[in-house]
Amino acid sequence: MAGPLPRHLLPDTAAIADGAVSIGGLELVDLAAEFGTPLFVYDEQHLRQRCRDAVEAFPGGVSYASKAFLCIAMAQLVAEEGMQIDVATAGELYVALAAGVGGDKCIFHGNNKSMDELRYALDSGVRHIMVDSFDELDRLDMLHAEIGSVADIMLRITPGVEVHTHEFIATGQDDSKFGFTVSTGLALRAVERALASPAVNLVGIHAHIGSQVFSIESFQKAVEVIAGFAAPYDVDELSIGGGLGVAYVEGEEAPTFASWGASVQRACRDAGFAGRITAEPGRSIVAASAVTLYEVGTIKTLEGIRTYVAVDGGMSDNPRPVLYGSGYETFLPRSGDAERELDIRLVGKHCESGDMLVREGWVPDDLAVGDILATPVTGAYGHSMASNYNKVTRPAVVFVREGEARQVIRRETLEDLIRLDT
Ligand code: LLP
Repeated sequence: MAGPLPRHLLPDTAAIADGAVSIGGLELVDLAAEFGTPLFVYDEQHLRQRCRDAVEAFPGGVSYASKAFLCIAMAQLVAEEGMQIDVATAGELYVALAAGVGGDKCIFHGNNKSMDELRYALDSGVRHIMVDSFDELDRLDMLHAEIGSVADIMLRITPGVEVHTHEFIATGQDDSKFGFTVSTGLALRAVERALASPAVNLVGIHAHIGSQVFSIESFQKAVEVIAGFAAPYDVDELSIGGGLGVAYVEGEEAPTFASWGASVQRACRDAGFAGRITAEPGRSIVAASAVTLYEVGTIKTLEGIRTYVAVDGGMSDNPRPVLYGSGYETFLPRSGDAERELDIRLVGKHCESGDMLVREGWVPDDLAVGDILATPVTGAYGHSMASNYNKVTRPAVVFVREGEARQVIRRETLEDLIRLDT
């Protein structure tokens, strides 16, 4: 037995009238009828407000980590809100450029950038290349010899900080594929090499300790290491990466941008760093701005075992429960303020038992086949990690605002599924 869905898990403009949940002034059930399901619905006002919160919290500058959710409309929105864009592949850079965002507004990440990607980044005039390895410094030397480029770089260092999050998304510990490790002396060697190289201009130091991190102390610990490390080198910028956690389910509470920003900046100053302090949030900008709408197709009640509710999507539009055991809530957009008496397992339509969207979910007990069912807080790493498994077409995405809905990514068609076949 669970109460109604906690309101703070819904986007900022969500409202409930006679049970019907609306976002951006539009009823979710109507959006499902107009655009079909599964459907990602993003609250544009919520997105813009989170961007503003982030920009206010980090006067030194903020880059949106586009891996969390990227399309042309999203790149344009974050640029309009005064943010830069963190891209981690040629593909993400391509989308940002296609959106009209200048290369000089992009920072280029990645632990294994190819020569082609580095060339593309330099040709596009990216603001910084976030260098991750000695092999990458070798490649930048080669490009310098070939085309005379001098890249503005930041070095990604690994501070040796363990954070409490899923193993797959923890990146600050020494045993990591990312960055130059401080404790082993790699970080020191990387700085010395960068300072001596004619191919690069060392602008700053970067660290990203992990994702879905709730503990401000973890960020403070990382900052103490990286700010202390950077202090002797007179670099302009220190980036503390992304990673701020968000609340997905009842009972979770995440720090705000304001408290994250204030605490890391204080820790930087305390450690003697006087330059620009920047950040790269992804999830915390987009996660809570969206809900996913599905249609219920089958309900199977196993007395004494459980009730399975299957919807028309699954691990192809949200692989996070399967990958990381992530939890989500469920609600019925027609009855947003109803008690949720029935415990269910929400599953998808894929051909495997691991295809779970919500392991332990709650819905009102009048749930019926044909209902539109929603999962909140699905704006980050859902559509961006979507796949065509079982040749399922990827869902459409709409942005809603003040009674208007605009489709920013169309639903894939069956023809799309064979467009790459030769
Ligand atoms: N900066 C760097 C260098 C990163 O690698 C990441 C995320 C971010 C910033 C943004 O982190 P955020 O603020 O979104 O936590 N697929 C996983 C998350 C992978 C995060 C990868 N890097 C998930 O669904 O939980």
